[in-house]
Amino acid sequence: MPATRTANFEQRIAELPLHVHTPVEWARAALADPLALLVDHAFLEKKAANNAMDLMARWPGDWAPGWVETLTGVARDEAAHLSQVVRHLSKRGGRLTRLHKNPYANGLREKVRKGEMGDLLDRLLVSALIEARSCERFGLLAAAAEDRELGGFYGALFSSELGHYKVFLKLARRVTPRDEVEERWQEMLAWESVVIRRQEPGSRIHSW
Ligand SMILES: [Fe+2]
Ligand SMILES: [Fe+2]
Repeated sequence: MPATRTANFEQRIAELPLHVHTPVEWARAALADPLALLVDHAFLEKKAANNAMDLMARWPGDWAPGWVETLTGVARDEAAHLSQVVRHLSKRGGRLTRLHKNPYANGLREKVRKGEMGDLLDRLLVSALIEARSCERFGLLAAAAEDRELGGFYGALFSSELGHYKVFLKLARRVTPRDEVEERWQEMLAWESVVIRRQEPGSRIHSW
């Protein structure tokens, strides 16, 4: 990857609100087993699509302007990402496995409050956190991948997940007063920095 393109990702990653930035060595370690990384990635895209549909199923109706259109749009994007990941996986001789653990997302959800509006706000913020961290990781992978095709794919996902992180934060601001969202967002960002650092190393999108 040309140095200018790497620098471009570095700058855009630095603009993310994450409290802790992933060491650059992470990408090389994760890419050591590209098929395992793609398998993990495929499950995350499927979960992201399910998450958008679950939000709509649990909170149907007009929670915010464009609620249903926005969430169906996210679900459609994630289903497209899933199909792209599976295509890259199959092309390289890999296949999906049945089991998948997701300790990172489960860790984030430990802080989701019970009760209608607290629950909704926290789930939107957890969604935004996962998108923002995934976006960071795809930027690092795009800069580090020696497989040009995969590098390009990760670069495209960087932009898509960046858009999703902003969309979830925007929805959060539409369902809850802005100062309440900002306070909770900072608390959740701090929690995310704890959860991501307690992940095991390995060829997974949310490893540490
Ligand atoms: Fe995605
Ligand atoms: Fe996404």
